[in-house]
Amino acid sequence: MIEALAQLESVGLAELESVSDGDGLERWRIKYLGTKGRLKAVMSGMKQVASGDRPAAGRRLNEVKSALESAFRGRRAALGTAPAAGPVLDVTEPGLPAGQGRRHVLSRTIDEITDVFARMGFSAAYGPEVEDEWHNFDALNIPRDHPARDPIDNFYISGGLMLRTQTSTVQIRTMAKTKPPLKVIAIGRVYRPDTHDATHYSMFHQVEGLYVDHDVTMVDLKTTLFQFARAYLGPEAEIRMRPSFFPFTEPSAEVDMKMKIKGKYQWVEMGGCGMVDPNVFEAVGYDAREWTGFAFGLGIERIAMRKYGIADIRWLFENDARFLRQF
Ligand code: DAH
Repeated sequence: MIEALAQLESVGLAELESVSDGDGLERWRIKYLGTKGRLKAVMSGMKQVASGDRPAAGRRLNEVKSALESAFRGRRAALGTAPAAGPVLDVTEPGLPAGQGRRHVLSRTIDEITDVFARMGFSAAYGPEVEDEWHNFDALNIPRDHPARDPIDNFYISGGLMLRTQTSTVQIRTMAKTKPPLKVIAIGRVYRPDTHDATHYSMFHQVEGLYVDHDVTMVDLKTTLFQFARAYLGPEAEIRMRPSFFPFTEPSAEVDMKMKIKGKYQWVEMGGCGMVDPNVFEAVGYDAREWTGFAFGLGIERIAMRKYGIADIRWLFENDARFLRQF
């Protein structure tokens, strides 16, 4: 047995030396290492070895086996016929555990906000991120010469198109295809050419609300925002409205919410709101004498950053799992 192994080793290795191409190598592999090969043949002789000699013969067998295998791998590498993708895939290996993923903190915030408004009877509406100026400006009562339309503040694309700067566009799209009354929220991305810093990014998310019905008043608006604040931010949350101006609402207000940040309640600016301007109703073909409505637009990053104590908006978009894992 020992002799047979020694012979197998020396003949096998010598023969391997003279192999000069991939086909020859494969023939060698089948001849020596294959299931009907010489190594297997010698192995089957093991049964005849006296039991006292078996351990030594077994050790030697393993040595020869690994000598032939590693010489084979070396030769294959030298001939450049090794599989291109590196080591052969061993499907019996246990594999790497798949890490458990989680939703992005912004996706979670969006789902939670949607949920609160859904409970108040708002359904979800959508609009495109690539918009035309009619939906982003004209129909929202923002005239041609309005400073908000300055190229410095907008991503204009050719052909009268642009990246929307506000989700208020979805108010127009929804009203243009739906008869009142209606009650919708629109959540999505908006784009502005802002220089990136801790509080600015060229893309962010807004939640827009629109309610159109008979006899809607500012009380309905304030109640809705207040109920949202209580449901989403906690039972002690408060809201306040400060007079402001938006072309598409009259009157208009900025809305702040008092929320718990690091254990203390603080006022945070959330966005704008107001009563839908009659010019907006006219633009979508609603009778402004019959219909009334309120609208609001809140910044989602702002809400999430304050709620989770995130100091830099850029962290939300870097896809660094070490950061995102925390939420
Ligand atoms: N679209 C405004 C903005 O992006 C926010 C806003 C203000 C939305 C008042 C509204 C509103 O619906 O009524 O700054």
